[in-house]
Amino acid sequence: MSKLIIANWKMNPSSLEDARLLARESDTDGLVVCPPFLYLEAVRDELNLAGLGAQDLFWEENGAYTGEISPFQLKNIGVRYAIIGHSERRQYLGETDEMVAKKVKACLDFGITPILCVGETKKEHNDNKAQEVVEREVMIGLSLVGGRESLVVIAYEPIWAIGSGIPDDPENTVKMAEFIRKTANADVPVLYGGSVTPENADDFLRQKEISGALVGGASLRGESIKAITRIANSVVK
Ligand code: PGA
Repeated sequence: MSKLIIANWKMNPSSLEDARLLARESDTDGLVVCPPFLYLEAVRDELNLAGLGAQDLFWEENGAYTGEISPFQLKNIGVRYAIIGHSERRQYLGETDEMVAKKVKACLDFGITPILCVGETKKEHNDNKAQEVVEREVMIGLSLVGGRESLVVIAYEPIWAIGSGIPDDPENTVKMAEFIRKTANADVPVLYGGSVTPENADDFLRQKEISGALVGGASLRGESIKAITRIANSVVK
């Protein structure tokens, strides 16, 4: 199976022009670009090879939900993937496992592939609680999918590795990927996220248990995300 690379631009870049330029520079087969909502259509129009993803969505189709964006609206403009339950949303926006579960279900109901993010904090890691936390996030995150587990992508993102420049040990990620599949009771693709760069991408992507990568910082440079995606494409047997 080919590997999947997700570019999570987070709240970047600052202008529509820069978003267009970054999309053009990043456009590669095997990549999914997740820009801020307000750049989605412009980015879509620049991409020929890469797919389009959103960084979040709401679980209702329409209605009185000020500031929210529905899976139906996103599907209509060409979004095929959505990052769900990213640790920054859990941390700063109060997203709970129950909200995450509703969003995962909403994705599946509207034909969008959810990328469910799970991972432990530094303290939980040091207290040997990583598996306990990941198990809870996976179990509740998948609790409403009703037998459609195989349509979900899970991203293991240890929170201490995100934006820190210190990635996980690939051997640990492999173990976690196996644990996640066991917990999900399905052969779900498991991506790794947390300080992935062109220099370390191969350490993760050459592992058959790791199905791809979710890339933040390095996705803001076209050259870097292209290099990572090329590595992903080259390890496919
Ligand atoms: P990073 O972010 O690559 O900058 O560590 C990953 C993420 O948060 O998805």
